[in-house]
Amino acid sequence: TGGVTYDPGFMNTAATKSAITFIDGDAGILRYRGYPIEQLAEKSSFLETSYLLIYGNLPSATELEAFDQKIRRHTLLHEELKGFFGGFPRDAHPMPVLSSAVTALSTWYQDSLDPFDEEQVELSTIRLLAKMPVLAAYAHKKSIGQALLYPDNSMNLVENFMRLSFGLAAEPYEMDPVIVKALDQLLILHADHEQNCSTSTVRLVGSSNANMFASVSAGINALSGPAHGGANEAVLQMLRQIQSEGLKPADFMEKVKNKEDGIRLMGFGHRVYKNYDPRAKIIKSTAHEILNKLGGNDELLDIAMSLEERALSDDYFISRKLYPNVDFYTGLIYKAMGFPEKMFTVLFAIGRLPGWIAQYREMLQDPEMKIGRPRQLFVGETERNYPNR
Ligand code: CMC
Repeated sequence: TGGVTYDPGFMNTAATKSAITFIDGDAGILRYRGYPIEQLAEKSSFLETSYLLIYGNLPSATELEAFDQKIRRHTLLHEELKGFFGGFPRDAHPMPVLSSAVTALSTWYQDSLDPFDEEQVELSTIRLLAKMPVLAAYAHKKSIGQALLYPDNSMNLVENFMRLSFGLAAEPYEMDPVIVKALDQLLILHADHEQNCSTSTVRLVGSSNANMFASVSAGINALSGPAHGGANEAVLQMLRQIQSEGLKPADFMEKVKNKEDGIRLMGFGHRVYKNYDPRAKIIKSTAHEILNKLGGNDELLDIAMSLEERALSDDYFISRKLYPNVDFYTGLIYKAMGFPEKMFTVLFAIGRLPGWIAQYREMLQDPEMKIGRPRQLFVGETERNYPNR
């Protein structure tokens, strides 16, 4: 192999050192900066967890307050940027709208693009955290033909996002604290996951010294695929298909096991977890709570539980160590909260943002950082001469 290691899909290659997130896939352990995910999900907030991931330690009360205030001050978008949303077809998927809008931030906020200027990196951090939920909510509002509301900075990040997504200009928006709490917790669970496809993409793009907006936008595109973040939308499509075609979960499982048409049980399996995904454990109980409270589609939840039960006792899944991952139950919760399916992966992106930023910043600080440039094994034609014609 000419001194080059062949490792398709980077199954075994560590491309970086990192002090942010620890995963033990065999034991089903996930920690951000040393803190177990279960404790953060129960006790922290998305804002606090974002601070933890980006700056390395939990903030003091004063630091958290200052961070919160800074983010609230940056929620407004340049007025002209709003016109941007009219440039897409109404039925556009909000993921490409979001990634385009995040790239567009680099044209309106040119004073925070330099990756070698710490103040500019800090400013783009705050701008992204504050503005990306607003961009996401606007992508949704445009798709349903409703007016874009201005952010209300008396609200925190998650409350603002809910109001911008569901509020109407002519009516006060009634916040449901149970939904806000549940969404906040889901965002914590998605906030980082070490060198997954989208995060590695952010690092790879950033390694060419591209600015943070460009790098995060690339991460959003990487997240959109159904093998990655797009799985949460794909799970719901799968459950609805089983329901509408009146398929028995057992028959669907046979199709999966026979690999008919390449069907996979979406929301199952993971490159690193060979055990129950610790995030899925927490999400499963939230799904029950939220669906009980909001009266979601119980039949879809029943189908999901039946699929899970069968998979966990089936040799095909046991021998391959396939367990439910973070995406298996989230779609059901998002749906019960009122989000359309197309928004599910956008919610994942909002959650993953602090992780992308933390990893991008860690890369910039790394003295061993080099431009990412994988090698290849060339398997094409050897030299041949262009014919005389
Ligand atoms: N349903 C049925 N079979 C599966 C599944 C599944 N969901 N996942 C893996 N397998 C089988 C696969 O066919 C292969 O079998 P065999 O050894 O007979 O060829 C074996 O398990 C190993 O699979 P792989 O594709 O080599 O594993 P990977 O580490 O490359 O892929 C994965 C990981 C997440 C892409 C894959 O499990 C998958 O496609 N899952 C469904 C999509 C999904 O839920 N993605 C979300 C991932 S978690 C959070 C996120 O990133 O968003």
